[in-house]
Amino acid sequence: MKTIIRNYEVEDWEIVQKFIKLYWNKNSPMIDHSLFEWQHKGYGDLGGSSTTQLLFYDDVLIGFLGSTPVMFQIPRKDKTKIISGIESATWVIHPDFRNRGGGILLLKKTMELGDCLVAQGANDEAVRYFKGLGFDYSEALNRYVIPLDRDGYLKLLSQKPKSNELQTWFDSIDLKSVPSLRSFNPDPGRLESLWRRSTERRDMLTLYRSSDFWSWRYIKNKGFKYYFLGDTSTRGIVVARVEPIFHPKDSLLHGLKVLRIIEMVPFNWKVWDGMVDAKFVDLIKSVLKWGKSEGCVAADFQCSTKRFETILKSVGFKRQNKSYGPPLCSLAGLFQPFRFKPHLINTLWRLDYLDKIIHVPVDDTYILKSDGDMDRPNIWPMPENLG
Ligand SMILES: CC(C)(COP(=O)(O)OP(=O)(O)OC[C@H]1O[C@@H](n2cnc3c(N)ncnc32)[C@H](O)[C@@H]1OP(=O)(O)O)[C@@H](O)C(=O)NCCC(=O)NCCS
Repeated sequence: MKTIIRNYEVEDWEIVQKFIKLYWNKNSPMIDHSLFEWQHKGYGDLGGSSTTQLLFYDDVLIGFLGSTPVMFQIPRKDKTKIISGIESATWVIHPDFRNRGGGILLLKKTMELGDCLVAQGANDEAVRYFKGLGFDYSEALNRYVIPLDRDGYLKLLSQKPKSNELQTWFDSIDLKSVPSLRSFNPDPGRLESLWRRSTERRDMLTLYRSSDFWSWRYIKNKGFKYYFLGDTSTRGIVVARVEPIFHPKDSLLHGLKVLRIIEMVPFNWKVWDGMVDAKFVDLIKSVLKWGKSEGCVAADFQCSTKRFETILKSVGFKRQNKSYGPPLCSLAGLFQPFRFKPHLINTLWRLDYLDKIIHVPVDDTYILKSDGDMDRPNIWPMPENLG
């Protein structure tokens, strides 16, 4: 009887695919080979060399912990430090082998591969294990929402707001006075320079957004089309997706579009400290205007820190609370497939630098919906007319 843990190799694909189907989710998009390979490739020092761990018992696959190699920049008083790290994804042990230490073994092996590990969207059981291993925890990403079309937005609310409340909010959002814009074809090197300039004075735990990051995560993404808006030399950039709602049983909702703002990088680094930079405000408004012209009825943005809250509120966004309220902000949480109140996206992070666990306050992290396997298709392949 022999137990072995080793890295996933492409030759393992068939058994891994079968394992995910049987013991995780038979409809998981991760059973698509190209999506799987893209997600597990990652970037940085370990990029392309699989960090995903497999557990075998007598040559039979009994455990799987998917992960993505990435680079983190970490908070250090003297200068920004860049280290190798991991974002974890699907974690499953064969039902007959649970509670025998296999799951924790896979997690510990993964943690050894880098100095920082980030996980998102963990269930209660997994959260308990992560916390037991010294991870910091945040119950939910902060989610900011805004209407782009009053009637369309109303359809996506799980609770009815007071009369006139929505109209008053909607009327206060001025998108007419800002210029229209088009998405641009990004140069990953310039995006890296923008990122460095924007964040070099700010101590944060976040992905190091090198040119390889931009290329892998968004430009060559296998699941979604991401749009780059803004510029790298004056205002900063926003990365967004247009997400059509998938709800074939409800013709009022099916096909309505939502603008998912995924990344924001201000050119003016003071925005990270709460400054309301007029150029960045106008950029975000222009992005909303663009989303509206693409037919979106609402927009949202999710991130771990509240550092952008002041600027987002000055644009017109409101923060949704952790119960998907108040009614005015009760925008549905999942659009493909449509669900009003899916599980919140929780975040776990563990920085173990120079053999010491460094606890990082959540507001000093910049972890986004696109981290930790959270921004990828849930339905695959997507029906063609939904894009
Ligand atoms: C979550 C999951 C991967 C954990 O794997 P696991 O192999 O069952 O976990 P472990 O056995 O390593 O740890 C579970 C318990 O066994 C205990 N344990 C560890 N080593 C042990 C050993 N040698 N003998 C007995 N018990 C042991 C652990 O301390 C833990 O105890 P606790 O629950 O009291 O804290 C597994 O339960 C699973 O596949 N669940 C379904 C999928 C899922 O929910 N995945 C997480 C998605 S976010």
